[in-house]
Amino acid sequence: MQVAQLIAAHAVAEVLAGHNLTVSMPKALRKVKSATPQQQAAAQDYSYLTLRFYAEAAAYLRALTPKPVTDERVHALLLVALSQLLHSRDDDFTVVNQAVEAAGKSGQRWAKGLVNAVLRNFLRQRESLQASIAQREEVQFNYPQWWIDTLKQQFPQHWQTILEVGNSHPPMTLRVNLRKTDVPAYLQLLQAAGIEAHHLAGAAIQLQQPMPVHQLPNFDAGWVSVQDAGAQWAAPLLDLQPGQRVLDACSAPGGKTCHVLETCEVDLLSLDVETARLQRVHENLQRLGLQARVAVGNASQSEWFDGQLFDRILADVPCSASGIVRRHVDMKWLRRPQDLETFARTQQEILSNLWQMLAKGGKLLYVTCSIFQQENEMQIQQFLTTHADAARLPVTFDATLLPCQQWTGGQLLPTAEHDGLFYALLQKH
Ligand SMILES: C[S@@+](CC[C@H](N)C(=O)[O-])C[C@H]1O[C@@H](n2cnc3c(N)ncnc32)[C@H](O)[C@@H]1O
Repeated sequence: MQVAQLIAAHAVAEVLAGHNLTVSMPKALRKVKSATPQQQAAAQDYSYLTLRFYAEAAAYLRALTPKPVTDERVHALLLVALSQLLHSRDDDFTVVNQAVEAAGKSGQRWAKGLVNAVLRNFLRQRESLQASIAQREEVQFNYPQWWIDTLKQQFPQHWQTILEVGNSHPPMTLRVNLRKTDVPAYLQLLQAAGIEAHHLAGAAIQLQQPMPVHQLPNFDAGWVSVQDAGAQWAAPLLDLQPGQRVLDACSAPGGKTCHVLETCEVDLLSLDVETARLQRVHENLQRLGLQARVAVGNASQSEWFDGQLFDRILADVPCSASGIVRRHVDMKWLRRPQDLETFARTQQEILSNLWQMLAKGGKLLYVTCSIFQQENEMQIQQFLTTHADAARLPVTFDATLLPCQQWTGGQLLPTAEHDGLFYALLQKH
């Protein structure tokens, strides 16, 4: 698997240089064209593992190398191998041998010797180094210190659990398309196909193991979609009635747009600022057999608006994605504290603009996949102080829709079963 380590090292080096893993991984895969599907999957796993436990691997590496490793790819390769040694079940000596082989392919002659020496020293000194390294919170929890401090301050009861959940493997959850089938029937199909799964709540089914979507029974025929259980709360909260004019203002790739349409016959406009991402909305609508108007537009501006007010608006705004960090492990290292202010400004602009497009008596559901209060509770408090015609409706937890374990106000904290999301329901009067 030295090929997989090499690909993962390319991808991790790119992330550490400030690029998203979703862009870096395909780029790294293109660099090693001969990789088999199995090696590609392993490369993906290794890069996730490394970024999940980056602070720890980096701390060991610093302790083991008197001078920093300046070659970015060799540095990343060492991080990948150290993460495997720390957190995978792979045999230690196989990991070391493969990393040494991979280093031989890095084009740097000295790299093989260095990688060999660092990893073997790690195996010898692991226990003695651990005591001093694990004292730092950043290393203990594998998050930047500012992230840990923010959660400590905002969730004094839950911060540790939130951090731990964020380092776990995310569940794969399906949403059954109730226009095509129902939950018991789809569970039977899964069982017949030998796929272990259980009903969570509402239309949500959780798989025991993640798997490629095209192997799911009738996926291509639109019987199910992949959607986190926490995100499946948006459509029911909108309190939809047939025939209503509904706007999904930040809609791509269309998860919530399609759920809304599966739930109720409404006249829906699916808007997003990114043309390329809207392609996914078209694909999802087509696969699920649903209809909506799809348009490119900026939700903080009005040039796309035809003047007809909406009865319901879903504002699933761009955010830090801190509630889904286990799905986007690069985010905790790419985000900066000041990004929260930038997101909060954009969110406020979107919210204020959309509010003008809501009919009297209409409802707007504000959603983020963040757990930081700057983007959530503080945002809504600020909005309410400047909009006298807005009332906040209670968002009460409904066990038939979501197996919620951590619910504080509008904040759904991440658990093993669902992601972290924030919901605020506003009504215009
Ligand atoms: C959290 S994602 C939406 C996920 C989607 N609602 C779903 O359930 O599949 C946020 C989306 O907002 C879009 N976006 C960002 N800024 C925007 C803006 N000013 N106007 C409209 N869309 C925007 C992004 O392109 C992205 O697709």
